[in-house]
Amino acid sequence: MALDHPATTPAQKPVAVPANPRFSSGPCAKPPVFSLDKLSDAALGRSHRAAVGKAKLKAAIEETRAILGVPAEYRIGIVPASDTGAVEMAMWSLLGARPCTMIAWESFGAGWVTDAVKQLKLDATVMTAEYGRIVDLATVDFDTDVVFTWNGTTSGVRVPNGDAIPADRAGLTICDATSAAFAQDLPWDKLDVTTFSWQKVMGGEAAHGMLILSPRAVERLESYTPAWPMPKIFRLTKGGKLIEGIFVGETINTPSMLAVEDYLVALDWGKSIGGLPALMARADANAQAIFEFCDARDWIANLAEDPATRSNTSVCLKFTDPRIADGAGFAKAVAKRLEAEGVALDIGAYRDAPAGLRIWCGATVETADIEAMLPWLDWAFHTEIAAQADAA
Ligand SMILES: Cc1ncc(COP(=O)(O)O)c(C=O)c1O
Repeated sequence: MALDHPATTPAQKPVAVPANPRFSSGPCAKPPVFSLDKLSDAALGRSHRAAVGKAKLKAAIEETRAILGVPAEYRIGIVPASDTGAVEMAMWSLLGARPCTMIAWESFGAGWVTDAVKQLKLDATVMTAEYGRIVDLATVDFDTDVVFTWNGTTSGVRVPNGDAIPADRAGLTICDATSAAFAQDLPWDKLDVTTFSWQKVMGGEAAHGMLILSPRAVERLESYTPAWPMPKIFRLTKGGKLIEGIFVGETINTPSMLAVEDYLVALDWGKSIGGLPALMARADANAQAIFEFCDARDWIANLAEDPATRSNTSVCLKFTDPRIADGAGFAKAVAKRLEAEGVALDIGAYRDAPAGLRIWCGATVETADIEAMLPWLDWAFHTEIAAQADAA
């Protein structure tokens, strides 16, 4: 009997395995040079306000500035509650002064929309795109305050560049760049607030967020007082003036000095391999290996429809084989097989995203590990197709 789709037999199990099977999108793989003894210089048991603690916090800020090329006149602060803390702090402190536009094309951006509309009760213009697509920034009114995510971690869709953001905008741009920073070029002149967490591209620990403010964002902070109460951990001003200490390492509350040390180790590694260009090149090479794998197969595709918007960090894939009856079940089964073999950990799609896989390709991941893992994906796919046929 002729089949609509040619049958495939299970591919042979590969022999080579990735040296590091950690492809989680956060917390992400530690830098390749990482070992716990690298943290032995941590200022443990010391006050973060003592000279030694303060110096480390200040170094984390200044090394971040050096690697990311953040302009000298921009403030960089270490704030509580990881990227979420940094984004919420910016939204609560800055929004409400003028009309605002909330943009989302995946789960985290959608969370910020909910906060602006339901919690802050702002009459925001909401612009959304389905998973795999992006809102065209050329259609956005940048005379409003605009909140958006640079790299949608749960859809694998990224802003290709900042060209559509006008230099002479009247509003502020508030950008959640947590899965973009250190892997993608961020145009600082187009971003008034940029946030990220240590746990993503640099493979640091979560807990602390980074908040980068342009002079225009500082001007807003000093000229506008929101109508709502401000919890202590969101407070960036005192008596109408910016609390400058936050931006030289005097954190609002107690940081983990172990996490700080770990971030310093990661930054040091980033610097040692050549800084931002090298970090971006590593993510590009990792993602490219997966793009090529997909291009050569008719059963798997990038969730990002437009190649210009394909993420080089959180690469999201969907299975396109018409023989697959239950998309979510199939993707879960493939991820489970790979995990059971110890060749790819934590690569199931995000819980709110379309069924599929999400493979982290940030700078701490070795291209050799991606290349060693991909034949296993071939094997797991064919094995699962065969299992499905057997069960039918
Ligand atoms: C785009 C984006 N925003 C925010 C978050 C939340 O980050 P955190 O858990 O570090 O606060 C994540 C986490 O994956 C993310 O991908």
